[in-house]
Amino acid sequence: MTPRWLGKCPNCGEWNTLVEEKTPEKKQTKAKRTITVTTQIYRLNEISLQTVTRLSTGINELDRVLGGGIVPGSLLLLGGEPGIGKSTLLMQVCIRIARRKIPVLYVTGEESGEQVRLRAQRLEDIAEEFYLLCSVDLDEIIAGVNQTKPGLLVIDSIQTLINPELTSAPGSIAQVRECTGELLKIAKAHHLSVFIIGHVTKFGAIAGPKTLEHMVDTVLYFEGESTQNYRIVRTVKNRYGPTNEIGVFEMTDTGLVEVPNPSELFLAERRPDVSGSAVVVTLEGTRPLLVEVQALAAPTPFPLPQRVTTGFDLRRLTLLLGILERRAGIRVGNRDIFLNVAGGLKLTEPAVDLGVICTLSSALVNVPLPKDIVLIGEVGLAGEIRSVARIAARLNEARRLGFRKALLPVLSSQPKISGLTAVPVDSVNAALAFLKLKK
Ligand code: TYD
Ligand code: MG
Repeated sequence: MTPRWLGKCPNCGEWNTLVEEKTPEKKQTKAKRTITVTTQIYRLNEISLQTVTRLSTGINELDRVLGGGIVPGSLLLLGGEPGIGKSTLLMQVCIRIARRKIPVLYVTGEESGEQVRLRAQRLEDIAEEFYLLCSVDLDEIIAGVNQTKPGLLVIDSIQTLINPELTSAPGSIAQVRECTGELLKIAKAHHLSVFIIGHVTKFGAIAGPKTLEHMVDTVLYFEGESTQNYRIVRTVKNRYGPTNEIGVFEMTDTGLVEVPNPSELFLAERRPDVSGSAVVVTLEGTRPLLVEVQALAAPTPFPLPQRVTTGFDLRRLTLLLGILERRAGIRVGNRDIFLNVAGGLKLTEPAVDLGVICTLSSALVNVPLPKDIVLIGEVGLAGEIRSVARIAARLNEARRLGFRKALLPVLSSQPKISGLTAVPVDSVNAALAFLKLKK
């Protein structure tokens, strides 16, 4: 709450991130609660351990991302921009679960029954136990659950739901939060897994799934450009499994298809003979992935040169450019610089720094990098190359995809991998000298 109008958040310093939130009015005031002890108190070590059998989604990549399937009674959130494929993915999950004679209830507030049926038919044969409810009303959903007794409930989407007890509009923070709270109660009471779809806009998650992340057990986000065919599902929170695990899919005419070897896909269209192309090895969860990072440096007509990134943090780019200018003496001030991560992936791991700095230098001096080399290492402010975790896994993946050399930090353990030469470097200058990007 602030007493006056604010455009900039006093906490994080960002503009346009504040959202108006009206205090919800409850139409009926409930009678004051009396405190009764309904739940029992246990000794922790006396709680019996039942082995949970997870519900397989029928899609291997998704099961892996979830840590082995859906835990019964859990609440899951699938966020992503409109049109990225959230409905398609969960429709496929529902069809595959229903085919195993487990009833599923798909609630849509966005499409008509015919639309859903047409879409589902394009995907796969629809099974008997697939129930559809076109509704936005929480009470109807509860009735639907009681009637169909599903093993999985899908809500498409949380922004369309309304709790009739509240006066605020669908999609407002109050409604979204209240409805999720109700769904949580349904999940726990019926021991039913509930998958909630939430739309996220390009400009941050206003009134969106971000506000719900703490309420649910698992949060998945769909990444990727809707103009490209690759889609990446990432776990950002998981009470029942690993986080940051990713699954890669391709959008086809018949729905989303798993991509078991994403590195091959991310490198497929690479032109190694052109300057400004480097291959980095990033760890996404437990999985090493090879990705191409492209850079372009063009003389700028503007007094203030532009820096544009896709799939990489702009501030990190500025920092790496600073290091390049100060520590390696490569001038960057008179060029517009564009950095692009191929395949729609977002790179967040510092281990890709060395690759980014080398592709930038390659673009700036217009000399291509050797085509069979991968670059691994974090770059510090002094221009030193810092060690990174799980080198062996990264090198094995590089070798599998036919790379013969790897630049890597001096202090990382250096496992012997046949057919792959490790070149330890201690500084950006040493790396650039090895790559013949610097006289
Ligand atoms: P959709 O699942 O409706 O996205 P969301 O629920 O995240 O808003 O998918 C939207 C896009 O996917 C749409 O542009 C059409 C495309 N699509 C395919 O390419 N193939 C298909 O089989 C389906 C069902 C959709
Ligand atoms: Mg949809």
